[in-house]
Amino acid sequence: MSSSASAVSRKILVLGATSGIAEATCRIWAAQGASLFLVARNPQKLAVVAADLKTRGAAFVDSLVADLDDTSSHPALLAHAINSLGGMDVAFLAHGILGDQARAEQDFEVAAQILHTNFVSVVSLLTWLANFCVQRHSGLLAVISSVAGDRGRKSNYLYGSSKAGLSAFLGGLRNRVDREGVTVLNIKPGPVKTAMTAAMPNSEKFADVDQVAQSIVKAIDARVDNLYVPFQWGPIMFVIRHIPERIFKKLNL
Ligand SMILES: NC(=O)c1ccc[n+]([C@@H]2O[C@H](COP(=O)([O-])OP(=O)(O)OC[C@H]3O[C@@H](n4cnc5c(N)ncnc54)[C@H](OP(=O)(O)O)[C@@H]3O)[C@@H](O)[C@H]2O)c1
Repeated sequence: MSSSASAVSRKILVLGATSGIAEATCRIWAAQGASLFLVARNPQKLAVVAADLKTRGAAFVDSLVADLDDTSSHPALLAHAINSLGGMDVAFLAHGILGDQARAEQDFEVAAQILHTNFVSVVSLLTWLANFCVQRHSGLLAVISSVAGDRGRKSNYLYGSSKAGLSAFLGGLRNRVDREGVTVLNIKPGPVKTAMTAAMPNSEKFADVDQVAQSIVKAIDARVDNLYVPFQWGPIMFVIRHIPERIFKKLNL
């Protein structure tokens, strides 16, 4: 842990920093000499990630262990992180759970957990962060949603609906804060090789996490609004969104 963030290096707050996608993205930022504040719930994993990013060239690395499901902790956590960084140029929100669709169909508590982690906790963080950025007329909020939010499917509609809610929230938030100089980037990955998907059939064919991370860094640098990654998921989801419901409801997706 360094004692203070450099005034010139980019200041990036990462929530869910031990996620495979976040870690790969942070490796690129570290090599660019960014200042990073990392938040994750697993202290051992977080310590390993933080130490690795320091060796890769990050100008400053600080971290905090937190379960982001605890929304009451968010205001103090975010204020502490931004104080440690000495400001914030980018917030990257990456935490999430796939959940168990079959169990969620039978047990509302399981369904509610998926909605809470993937939607409610992210809305809580973004409410504070967006108001912080609006006050300063600057900042970029990069949030990982999913292609699964583009259309509900029987195999994962709890996860998908949590991400659909998140995507709708991000669109509305952008509509409110873009004119205040704040960028909202909605990142919609297709299947990516990370711990989240390791047990899925054919996961070896999923997108490479380092390539996904490169696309995320580029999209943040270009301050785009939406990113499908890999890019082919844009046209694929366009087609899927437009399949007539009378056909879609009979498909096994
Ligand atoms: N991989 C894909 O195919 C894919 C596709 C589309 C979207 N996404 C989204 O991409 C994001 C990153 O996922 P990933 O693929 O990198 O999977 P991952 O490696 O499993 O990362 C998920 C991360 O979320 C963290 N997390 C979950 N609940 C948390 C909580 N309550 N508090 C703090 N941290 C919590 C996990 O922490 P622990 O390690 O402590 O459990 C883990 O670090 C997620 O939002 C996911 O929904 C992934």
